[in-house]
Amino acid sequence: MHDKKQFFMRDPWVFDPDAEKVKPRDARLGFDTRCLHSGFDPAETREPFRSFVPPIVQSMTYPYETFDEIPCPVYGRTRTPTNTVLEERLAALEGGEACVTAGSGSQALFNLIFTIARPGDNVVTSLNIFGEGYKQAATIFPERCNVAFRFVDDPANPAAWDALIDNRTKLIWVESPSNPCLFVTDIPAVAEVCHARGVPLMVDNTTATAALQQPMALGADIVLLSITKFLAGNATVIGGAVIGPEPLIEDIRWNTTEFIGSVISPLEAWMVLQYLETLPMRMLRHSENALKVAEFLAGHPAVELVNYSGLPAHPQHELACRQMCAHGGLLSFVAPGGIPGAAGVMNRLELIVHAVTFGTSRTICMHPPTITHEHMTPEERKAAGIDDGLIRLSVGLENPQDLIADLDQALGMS
Ligand SMILES: Cc1ncc(COP(=O)(O)O)c(C=O)c1O
Repeated sequence: MHDKKQFFMRDPWVFDPDAEKVKPRDARLGFDTRCLHSGFDPAETREPFRSFVPPIVQSMTYPYETFDEIPCPVYGRTRTPTNTVLEERLAALEGGEACVTAGSGSQALFNLIFTIARPGDNVVTSLNIFGEGYKQAATIFPERCNVAFRFVDDPANPAAWDALIDNRTKLIWVESPSNPCLFVTDIPAVAEVCHARGVPLMVDNTTATAALQQPMALGADIVLLSITKFLAGNATVIGGAVIGPEPLIEDIRWNTTEFIGSVISPLEAWMVLQYLETLPMRMLRHSENALKVAEFLAGHPAVELVNYSGLPAHPQHELACRQMCAHGGLLSFVAPGGIPGAAGVMNRLELIVHAVTFGTSRTICMHPPTITHEHMTPEERKAAGIDDGLIRLSVGLENPQDLIADLDQALGMS
């Protein structure tokens, strides 16, 4: 009889903390150079499609030359040439062996956990995670797949992570700095705990990006990315990626790309490649601007609290300085007066746009308690530091004095 299970299932990836790390692609090149060159060599293009820029191969099927020779790629659901350039570039930037992209960052998270965990398994994380990730952890996976999520109550303490791991733990998931409260987790310390227990560590590097933080060099085994944010830079693309050991990445590709069709289109992959060329300089400018705005807010009498790891008063400032080369473009602050207080400030902003995303070249504000983290219980929001008056600010590339002037008039005390 045809054994369907044998036909469909690959051997699942098994994590080995002692496995020798494969040297990442282009490790000899500097980070800025990898942003421009990795994954694509114009010399390898052929007439009549010889090209300086990676071509957009907007074809979802790829012809066979002979009956027996399966082309690679064969069908756009599994991979496309443009997407392969993006995957190789992202793997090179994060210092990982391989990468698989997905239709969004949330989908990339789903694909990773769906591939790695079976019913009865669990994942350990904290409440310092993005809203859709929390919704997957709190309802979708436990209710639909019988995969439990355990939330560490003191994420600053490596022993608290250790305490929640058992022999059914398949993944530790850290988001650092976290959205929206910019909590910084000690990646090397948590990696040590994970590896002693034989569990892989995944770090969501969306807010910092590889330009500012290299989780794999700090001990992470897997990196999750929302491409939608700083990587694509201008709110024109939605996409995500997982970077990690090749057997895991191919397992994810098989389970969720090939069979389920979680893909990013060639045009969008190409757009991201254009944005990646300027990632290092954009991230430094976002960071410089955010620090100026954070300093202004921290000194403003109508602001109760500022979350930005670049401020010396941030509880993990020194840790952030060890792990990151700059502190990024995302910050949050608490306006007095709860939800009406935050609404008043946001409604008065003129230059800064109210919208749901971050990492854009133009500055954006958003209200996490009602828009992204509304499904957390009030107690969970309190534990995660999400005050009713919390406003998230994604500081863009404008002249920072213009942003400060807009915030000053909106805060209403000048
Ligand atoms: C840290 C982080 N990771 C992942 C995601 C998911 O990204 P996407 O919006 O592409 O699904 C988000 C979204 O806000 C995020 O903030």
